[in-house]
Amino acid sequence: MIEHAHDLVVIGGGPGGYVAAIRAAQLGLDVAVVDEHKALGGTCLRVGCIPSKAMLESSERYHQASHELAEHGVHVDGVKLDLAHMLKRKDKVVQTLTGGVGALLKKNKIAVYHGRGRISEPGHVHINTPGAGDDTDIAVKAKHILIATGSTPSNLPGLEPDGDRIGTSTEALAYDAVPDHLVVIGAGYIGLELGSVWNRLGAKVTVLEYLDRILPGMDAEIAREAKKMFEMQGIEFKLGVKVTGAKVNKKSVTVECEGADNVRGDRILLAVGRKPNTEGLGLDAIGVELDKRGFVQADDNFATNIPGVYAIGDVIGGMMLAHKAEEEGIACVERIVSGYGHVNYNAIPGIVYTEPEIASVGKTEEQLKEAGVEYNKGVFMFRANGRARALAHTEGRVKLLADKKMDRLLGAHIIGPRAGDLIAECAVAIEFGASAEDLARASHAHPTLSEAIKEAALAVGGRVIHS
Ligand code: FAD
Ligand code: NAI
Repeated sequence: MIEHAHDLVVIGGGPGGYVAAIRAAQLGLDVAVVDEHKALGGTCLRVGCIPSKAMLESSERYHQASHELAEHGVHVDGVKLDLAHMLKRKDKVVQTLTGGVGALLKKNKIAVYHGRGRISEPGHVHINTPGAGDDTDIAVKAKHILIATGSTPSNLPGLEPDGDRIGTSTEALAYDAVPDHLVVIGAGYIGLELGSVWNRLGAKVTVLEYLDRILPGMDAEIAREAKKMFEMQGIEFKLGVKVTGAKVNKKSVTVECEGADNVRGDRILLAVGRKPNTEGLGLDAIGVELDKRGFVQADDNFATNIPGVYAIGDVIGGMMLAHKAEEEGIACVERIVSGYGHVNYNAIPGIVYTEPEIASVGKTEEQLKEAGVEYNKGVFMFRANGRARALAHTEGRVKLLADKKMDRLLGAHIIGPRAGDLIAECAVAIEFGASAEDLARASHAHPTLSEAIKEAALAVGGRVIHS
């Protein structure tokens, strides 16, 4: 057994873990990261944010070439899909970025241990190195231990992923042929993003959703508009459907449903949420408290109930987003070192990278109504925005919600071109406690999509110009 000692050992090299490690090294701690995968960057870089965005970009290019460029007077004959090349490009993007994380850790003099980490007792991490016997396992003493082990896809009873017909996002990022009919279970982030990818590449896509709406948690008005747009793109939705099982046949698979007829397709994508990675971490043995759903319980300092053991990112639940994990990782180590560090959960944007993109930050209209908060609403449609016209992407809207009395921006919800980039301005506004008036008075360059935010802010005060 090889033995080492560090100030901080981070278990999990995802966006939460590796960013926390870098910040801790900047603050002068001797830091190590443990990850079971050689390629660092976690779910996000290996099988999440990055490969999905690479496939979204590539499939959108294919779709534009075959369906949209003619509107610009550009005629492309013989558009052909080379799926193998598209997948290879995606893998290359992933490889470059995971390699980049390794380089960043090296630059910050952070030790990296490859293997599965287990907290053997408070202050001690045991690393089981792959394929090796006990003699090459590593024991590390740590003043502080940070659990950043992330999450994995949830399953449904009766629908065990088989790596072939029934799979999760990981398989759906790498199908070697376009399915004839992809049945997606779950109309959330993954279902809509990966459903869009395969729909654009030519698959028939049916989305089965348990609730009576898509995108739970997002503003309902925006979600309704999104559903209409996806339907116009050819995606079929069946809402209020309880999936009870699946039968795998030779060449197809039948999804058994309550609330709708059974659906037969050739692949199933299970996208019904994610569960925390806590198995084999030794949490039971040392008594780390989990909540009812199995997430590690952490307080405002990201401390668990066991002194010296902290947790951040997907494994503690809440918004399961890479940038949320990063913010928590940074705040956690800043609090360990200096006692200060903050995360404003109300200013964390969520973005669905479909076409159009859907982006949201702060409170939804439903949340404000439920809390009895009086608000003004300003809406601006992209069809009245000059740049959107030039792009030929005029669908969608910006919707801003501001406190009725104080005019403070409470929520921003965008569906439309580059909504994911546009929402950053609203996140900063919420972080700074800005008013709708502040946004309305700031100069926005013409002609840009960002003018739609200014106009929506003007609309909050009843003085929109271009509508
Ligand atoms: P993870 O990224 O899950 O990293 C945890 C790491 O710890 C993993 O490498 C895991 O293998 C390792 N690990 C676990 N247990 C152990 C152990 N015992 N020992 C050693 N290592 C261990 N979020 C966004 O913000 N934007 C997006 O566009 C986006 N797209 C997504 C697309 C898909 C298809 C998926 C699945 C997710 C997406 N997400 C996106 C969510 C995002 O990936 C997660 O929120 C984020 O990765 C969480 O970061 P984390 O550091 O908490 O955990
Ligand atoms: P999700 O929580 O976004 O959506 C799951 C959907 O499945 C919900 O609409 C839910 O009502 C539905 N559902 C649950 N059980 C069901 C059942 N039995 N039958 C039918 N429908 C059912 O989860 P998803 O899409 O799996 O993604 C996991 C997480 O990963 C997301 O919550 C998000 O945090 C993250 N992610 C973020 C992305 C981004 O930031 N762009 C992209 C992809 C994932």
